[in-house]
Amino acid sequence: MKYHKKDLISIKDLTKAQISKLFSTTKVLKKKPLAKYNSLKGKSLALVFQKPSNRTRVSFEVGMFQLGGKAIYLGPDELKLGVRESVKDIARVLGRYVDGIVARTFKHQNVVDMSKFSWLPVINGLSDLLHPCQGLSDLFTVEEKFGNKKVKISFVGDGNNVLHSLLLGCGILGRDICVATPKGCEPNGEILKEAKKYAEANKSVIEIVNDPKKCVDRADVIYTDVWVSMGQESEKQKRTELFKGFQVNEELVSCAKKGALIMHCLPAHRGEEIADNVLDSDNSIVYEQAENRLHVQKAILLMLLGG
Ligand code: CP
Ligand code: NVA
Repeated sequence: MKYHKKDLISIKDLTKAQISKLFSTTKVLKKKPLAKYNSLKGKSLALVFQKPSNRTRVSFEVGMFQLGGKAIYLGPDELKLGVRESVKDIARVLGRYVDGIVARTFKHQNVVDMSKFSWLPVINGLSDLLHPCQGLSDLFTVEEKFGNKKVKISFVGDGNNVLHSLLLGCGILGRDICVATPKGCEPNGEILKEAKKYAEANKSVIEIVNDPKKCVDRADVIYTDVWVSMGQESEKQKRTELFKGFQVNEELVSCAKKGALIMHCLPAHRGEEIADNVLDSDNSIVYEQAENRLHVQKAILLMLLGG
């Protein structure tokens, strides 16, 4: 049976108003984790993961439990996406058992196909291109700390999945962001173009530079992500060389506003993209940011699977 369903493949699947509503629900859930217990009673969620995970897996599993539903984790060795079985067959079969799918894949096209071949809501739990649940949690965290105040977010590091979702989210919500990457590691051109279009409509600024110090000048928030993402392990030496000078350390932080907050999607490669003492500093909000994954994703689950 086909019916109208909603996915979260990219942050741009949500309007500014929907994100605002999502954040309101998140606030309620954060205050009272069991406020919506039984809202998803009898519903189940398949977690189809091609890559390892701590935050995404645990927060979705606990989130479903706290909403009265059940999550079923299907790790890299279980389904062998596209090897043991095609994405099409996996999507169609899961549709006979569960009520929603979270997919974590290498190729972004696999998440898109999962949605195409399934009548269930599909949530992107990270692909090589995007990480919308992370981006939404990041922007919820920024809103918690600063409200609607105009702030400058500075992202120093790799123009990859986490940054792509953050850029789209900043554009849609009208947040200013400056990005510093080494030459050749800039964000995807199409995503940047789209994010800038949203930003223009929402009166915010997106700037891309190659100088980390210039990027963090007057920053309220400094954000970084690993230099070697999942699947890029064989490029470690080359990438470590490429990102020299891009570490978020005390010297770089001293170029930002006094008291600038430190964010990282985690996992962190301590001593590479971020210095230990910065990650552990009083201004680091990385664990609150990680906690917010749970609250935001519960609101996402209610939005897509509830009702
Ligand atoms: N930030 C994040 O998605 O973490 P995991 O890879 O541990 O899920
Ligand atoms: N860019 C990182 C994010 C991990 C949450 C990766 O893809 O491995």
